[in-house]
Amino acid sequence: MDLLIDLRHAVGATLRARIENALRDAIRSGLLAPGTRLPPSRALCAQLGVSRGVVVDAYAQLIAEGYVLARQGAGTIVAASGDRGTPSSASAAAAVAPAIRHDLSPFVPALAAFPRGAWRAALNRALRTAPDERLGLPGAAGVPELRAALAGYLARSRGVRGGADQVIVCNGLRQGLGLLWSALAADGAQRVAVEEPGWRGIAQTAVDAGLRVVPVPVDEHGLVVAQLDSAASVDAVAVAPAHQYPSGAVMPPARRAALLSWAQERGALVVEDDYDAEYRYDREPIGSIQGLAPQQVVYGGSASKSLAPGMRLAWLVVPAQLVEPMTALQARRGGMPAALDQLALADLIERGELDRHLRRQRRRYRRQRDALLGALAARLPEAEVRGAAAGLFVVLHLPEAVGEEAVVRHARALGVALEGGGGMEPSVVVGYANLPEAAIAPVVEALAACVRAA
Ligand SMILES: Cc1ncc(COP(=O)(O)O)c(C=O)c1O
Repeated sequence: MDLLIDLRHAVGATLRARIENALRDAIRSGLLAPGTRLPPSRALCAQLGVSRGVVVDAYAQLIAEGYVLARQGAGTIVAASGDRGTPSSASAAAAVAPAIRHDLSPFVPALAAFPRGAWRAALNRALRTAPDERLGLPGAAGVPELRAALAGYLARSRGVRGGADQVIVCNGLRQGLGLLWSALAADGAQRVAVEEPGWRGIAQTAVDAGLRVVPVPVDEHGLVVAQLDSAASVDAVAVAPAHQYPSGAVMPPARRAALLSWAQERGALVVEDDYDAEYRYDREPIGSIQGLAPQQVVYGGSASKSLAPGMRLAWLVVPAQLVEPMTALQARRGGMPAALDQLALADLIERGELDRHLRRQRRRYRRQRDALLGALAARLPEAEVRGAAAGLFVVLHLPEAVGEEAVVRHARALGVALEGGGGMEPSVVVGYANLPEAAIAPVVEALAACVRAA
């Protein structure tokens, strides 16, 4: 295929950066639609008159950022996931795809179980009792009530260490990570190691802040710490030890210790995404890595799974020296969440309502997970289930000959939305939290049909 890349107008200090930027811009603007196959590196380097390594490196970078996927036998294709679709391509896709009947997104908790009554009561109390000054512009790190409530809650439930003055409340974890990466970049940081495959929000926010991401593989125990040495020297490493997306791996204590001693030796910062930590089923909870080395680790958590993503409330607990630069940035950008919402969340935590809600949700999700595992064992025994001990999704490893993209496509045609695993072996991620129990058997039936068709 021909690919129009105008290197004369692409920005970037090096040829590789210009190729990357030109491709990234074309994907973002919709010129290269999801599913488009990029030319083999051999063909593109000949077309552009550059050495092959330059194109191979540019493709590797775009793979790490999630813009494109490498598929054995199918080449390099533009990724469908993420929020890069233009309105026109999104509406064109919506016009041909059937409505989504079952959303197996791993990112959404049971929205119908949001504690509306408790939240309304907390908001009412916040409105009634907040002093007038709380209705002024909220402090850039968050309102003091919520910072204190979070410091206490995270210490007792996750073993996080640090005072309320180290807590920064943000508008969703993505927004907070943006602050963190910008503050690190302003201090001279250049590279951050990320899990590959991993949650794209990490790589995307780092790239947006001007950092380069260095992909590091993941195995059944999470990020492969031994591979960090072969990565270019990095200033930070981002991990999700509680339940890695999309592998579902829970990082065991020995791997955690190895990560921390690597970081201490190199003076690198560890950024811990503790996103799924509230949900674990068959094992004792493992505390946060931050609690083992608070000076070396930035801890990140979010209300998106414990309550709802629409709340846009998240938090970071950072080493003391990062508080000032990050809050200065937050003040400049004006990204603080609404003060009344912050006060209501503080109230919910202090009254034990959040714990009560989570206890209820854990029971609900365990039931749903068990029903899903039972249905998968009965109707899709050829797929191996991994990552089921925690979180709100399981990973289905598909038989070798089955194409992951094909399963996702077939499922979409049946009105079932799910994500591919994006790893070396074909797999799909099945989020079960927002799925009514009655829908589990029909969904698994549909998945089994898709796997056979693929
Ligand atoms: C693995 C992971 N971590 C963190 C987040 C952050 O969530 P938010 O920006 O909604 O707080 C998400 C959201 O989808 C996620 O999937």
